[in-house]
Amino acid sequence: MKTVLSGIQPSGKLTLGNYIGAMKNFVKLQNDYACNFMVVDLHAITVAQDPKALREQSEAVAALFIAAGIDPGKANVYMQSHVPPHAELGWILTTLTSMGELERMTQFKDKAAGKESVGAGLFVYPSLMAADILVYNADLVPVGEDQKQHLELARDLASRFNHRFGEYFTSPDPYIPEVGARIMSLDDASKKMSKSNPNPGSYIALLDTPDEIRKKISRATTDSGKEVRYDPAEKPEISNLMSIYSECSGKSLAEIQNEYEGQMYGGFKKDLAEVAVSVLEPLQKRYYEIRESGQLYDILAKGADRAMETASRTLNDVKERMGFLLPR
Ligand code: TYM
Repeated sequence: MKTVLSGIQPSGKLTLGNYIGAMKNFVKLQNDYACNFMVVDLHAITVAQDPKALREQSEAVAALFIAAGIDPGKANVYMQSHVPPHAELGWILTTLTSMGELERMTQFKDKAAGKESVGAGLFVYPSLMAADILVYNADLVPVGEDQKQHLELARDLASRFNHRFGEYFTSPDPYIPEVGARIMSLDDASKKMSKSNPNPGSYIALLDTPDEIRKKISRATTDSGKEVRYDPAEKPEISNLMSIYSECSGKSLAEIQNEYEGQMYGGFKKDLAEVAVSVLEPLQKRYYEIRESGQLYDILAKGADRAMETASRTLNDVKERMGFLLPR
């Protein structure tokens, strides 16, 4: 069975962008792959986190994985920090990564822009992400478009290691959805929908109430003109809403365009809000059930134990190939 690995940061509220770009595919892949889905707390601390908020968000993201439909009997669900080989292989891969490669990362450039002081962790973030993937020799990595460049680094590091120390790592392929790879902000379709946007009207959080969802969608910016037509260059805002509609309803963009031919934006937005609510309401119900069930820590412990088996084996192999003394 081939292997899948992905992670989500517990650094704020998860959005519909995280769901459509990543989580929805986690659920899809779990039946056909050996899956590992982590809450990447070690990545989250590359920017300052309040300890109480980090703890709460970590539990929330883990519970959202399950609420979204990940079956912990099939996939390993765990905290990145519970499997120490991630951090250790992360360090090893950092030593194989060049400053230039890290300087070219657009996520680093965006996050560092305008800051007086930038943490070194933010800079080496992509090497740790490469370790997350390579420590399981993952074949496939379901992510949104914004993670593509990080994945290319993981591929480069795999081949660099193989070249220097002998064929070992699998080159991981990205698994990026065709329609929902980059869900844009509701108030500005030139920006990615993001949990770190200070305007909550710009994103739909997975735990927004149905009324909040309706309000946010009715206030979403729309392009001038009237037609509901998919044309990201000419009509970026309506195209973004159509992508959300398509991903939440399972209808194709063409079907949606036909359905709303000759109609105004208002009716389309109203229907879109109901489609989004119909996906998020049952997810939220499961989320609160899981949080109250007291099962979360048990699920995380089992997931980490299973993940640890593969991860520690890889780390040993890597160290042996590189010439580390292994304890006897
Ligand atoms: P993070 O936590 O920023 O986002 C989690 C996942 O959600 C996707 N995503 C989106 N997809 C579509 N539209 C959007 N607006 C949108 N916003 C976010 C992201 O692409 C991502 O797939 N570096 C990663 C976490 C990570 C990781 C890994 C991922 C750490 N190690 C190993 C894969 C493999 C990140 O910051 O994701």
